[in-house]
Amino acid sequence: MGKLKTFHVAGTIFLLAAYLTSPRAGEFHTGETMVCSDCHTMHNSQNNSPMRYDSSPTPAPTLLRHADSTSLCLYCHGSVTAPDVLAPVTMYSGSGDDYSGAGFFEYHLGMGSSKSHDLGLSSSVPLSTMGTLVLTCSSCHDPHGNDNYRNLLTKPNPSGAGTTVVLGTDVFEEVAPANPPTREGSIKAYKSSNIGYKSNMSSWCTECHDILASNEMGSAPTHFMRHPSDVALDAYSPSRTNLSHWVEGKGEGFGTATGDTTEGVPRVRFQVPTARNFTEAKTVSPNNEVFCISCHLAHGGNYQKALVWPFRESAGGVGGKDMISPCQQCHFQ
Ligand code: HEC
Ligand code: HEC
Ligand code: HEC
Ligand code: HEC
Ligand code: HEC
Ligand code: HEC
Repeated sequence: MGKLKTFHVAGTIFLLAAYLTSPRAGEFHTGETMVCSDCHTMHNSQNNSPMRYDSSPTPAPTLLRHADSTSLCLYCHGSVTAPDVLAPVTMYSGSGDDYSGAGFFEYHLGMGSSKSHDLGLSSSVPLSTMGTLVLTCSSCHDPHGNDNYRNLLTKPNPSGAGTTVVLGTDVFEEVAPANPPTREGSIKAYKSSNIGYKSNMSSWCTECHDILASNEMGSAPTHFMRHPSDVALDAYSPSRTNLSHWVEGKGEGFGTATGDTTEGVPRVRFQVPTARNFTEAKTVSPNNEVFCISCHLAHGGNYQKALVWPFRESAGGVGGKDMISPCQQCHFQ
């Protein structure tokens, strides 16, 4: 089964130090970094001038500093002042990564996107029993912070069972964000390669996309009716994956850039169910697990269905050569 794990003493001391100096699991808008005036204004007036970020003299509901919660978040998170989540995102260029952990939204409010979660639009939730929903930033994040990674709501679906995603338990970071925040620090902390995954992220997605909560098993012994998540490449024998190809990380499927004219994309993200730290969560092995985030970005990205690669774009179109690359990394058919 698993490969022998090397225990890195130096790495552990570094991680422990980072853990002791970092704030609660949510790393901003929480505890001492929850500054009311970042988001609220008491009278929308200072020296007789509006306090709203858009300079409107009309006070906003819930005393917010913008028209509504999502436009408030995007005032900072849609430009250069905070980790950018609204296309076009240039802040990670040159960092070695194409994306942050969550990727980005194609549009602001009220426009449907085929590449990202839609904000401020009444949409029916696919693969879900929830019916319709208007997504805002606060559908997934607690604006007042909590104990979860990225302040994720434990119950994004109010009638779901609830899933916690805890930094240091379910998810690991190599570099914590700078406190107080700096642009350089944000780039290092939020770029996708800085995050290692262990557990609960798929369960968090399936709070809303609850039809995917069970990996529908097909006919015996080990076939499936929908692509499974949280299943190890070597979970079954015979395996429908190609373990040595995945571990080796060379040849078909693997490459350096996504959407270019050369076949192959960077290794897709995976989960390590036994990880105790960042290094272990990034260790390639036959028992790595496929999960939602192997194929999708939580906010969205450059490709349809928030996929990390152009799977549904036509073969002759953008990135046609990479159309099946992630599938080949694991399956090598
Ligand atoms: C990152 C932005 C942000 C910060 C910082 C923030 N708030 Fe809020 N607050 C919001 C948003 C957005 C709402 C509206 C929530 C909604 O509509 O779902 C809200 C709503 C509220 C409400 C209404 C009741 C509720 O919980 O919905 C109160 C009271 C409140 N905030 C107090 C505070 C206080 C006190 C602080 C500082 C200790 C603070 N907020 C810091 C964004 C923020
Ligand atoms: C608060 C509930 C909620 C959560 C949590 C949630 N989603 Fe969604 N998701 C939606 C809604 C609503 C839609 C339909 C609107 C749209 O297409 O953006 C959707 C659509 C999607 C789509 C189709 C997008 C498209 O453009 O057609 C994908 C893929 C997706 N979600 C994946 C995920 C993944 C992966 C996660 C976990 C990181 C997740 N979702 C978490 C509510 C949620
Ligand atoms: C469908 C759920 C969902 C919605 C809606 C959503 N987020 Fe997120 N967000 C996530 C998840 C999940 C992560 C962590 C993803 C990871 O690390 O793999 C995240 C990460 C982040 C991060 C960390 C940086 C990054 O890009 O990884 C920021 C900042 C953020 N979200 C802000 C926002 C803002 C602002 C909005 C509204 C414009 C928003 N989010 C809407 C689910 C959501
Ligand atoms: C006044 C500017 C500002 C506003 C308004 C704002 N943010 Fe932030 N946000 C920041 C900064 C700065 C950071 C921290 C960057 C860092 O630590 O490197 C941050 C960090 C975050 C993170 C990452 C937290 C973590 O645990 O890693 C999330 C998620 C987030 N914001 C969501 C939101 C949401 C949702 C809203 C709207 C309700 C919002 N923000 C409004 C400035 C803002
Ligand atoms: C990160 C690794 C990974 C990626 C990427 C991946 N898969 Fe899988 N896939 C798995 C694992 C693990 C299983 C379940 C284990 C098994 O069936 O042996 C699985 C199962 C399957 C099955 C079901 C097999 C059965 O007998 O029921 C099919 C079909 C499949 N994958 C196709 C695809 C396609 C097509 C893609 C690209 C769109 C893809 N996979 C991407 C890891 C992956
Ligand atoms: C192996 C890659 C892979 C994994 C793992 C995966 N997806 Fe998908 N997902 C896709 C592809 C490809 C599509 C495009 C539609 C299709 O091929 O069925 C898609 C489509 C979707 C859609 C849109 C459906 C619609 O009706 O438009 C949602 C929602 C979604 N996935 C959510 C999830 C969630 C939640 C998870 C984790 C529980 C997950 N996916 C795991 C590859 C994957």
